[in-house]
Amino acid sequence: MLKGLRRDFCGDIINLVAESIAFSKTSDRRVIYDELVPQIGALIEGEEDLIANLANIAAVLKEAFGFFWVGFYLKKGEQLVLGPFQGPLACTRINFGEGVCGHAYSTKETIIVPNVDEFPGHIACSSAARSEIVVPMFGNNGEVFGVLDVDSDRLDDFSEADSAGLGGIVSAIEKMIPKAPLNM
Ligand code: SME
Repeated sequence: MLKGLRRDFCGDIINLVAESIAFSKTSDRRVIYDELVPQIGALIEGEEDLIANLANIAAVLKEAFGFFWVGFYLKKGEQLVLGPFQGPLACTRINFGEGVCGHAYSTKETIIVPNVDEFPGHIACSSAARSEIVVPMFGNNGEVFGVLDVDSDRLDDFSEADSAGLGGIVSAIEKMIPKAPLNM
């Protein structure tokens, strides 16, 4: 699989930064998402453990974009519980409907928050976070089994490009769910 990844993505503009993930040196996130999505799909196709895959995806997103915090909350019982992440220490449990994550869980929609101080009920795991995007992840039953959460230390740092790009990564995760037993 690794040889396949290198063959598909080698080229002058490509910078090989992780063991098998490559992306362009550009400030255009759309370009980077377009490069990452198929590579992440290939990466997790060969591993059926959900936590292992989410851990690597968080690492790839941190490496590629330098996000302040990127990680996952997974539904366990009646709460969202902290999963694999990269960044500073984070809150471990979030109630459905609370904070940006709980809101995305309950509404089943991606939420972009340009200024977290203006989002009622925002949960400030770190005072340095200024803007945020949360993407829900759906299981086979159409229910949300977790969310992908990304925080920035800059105001208004997320756009439709992030919504689409992170949505593409979440789609790759959702495709592995039939192989990955969920402990919900
Ligand atoms: N800000 C989130 C909580 C999780 S942290 O950002 C890591 C929220 O309001 O749900």
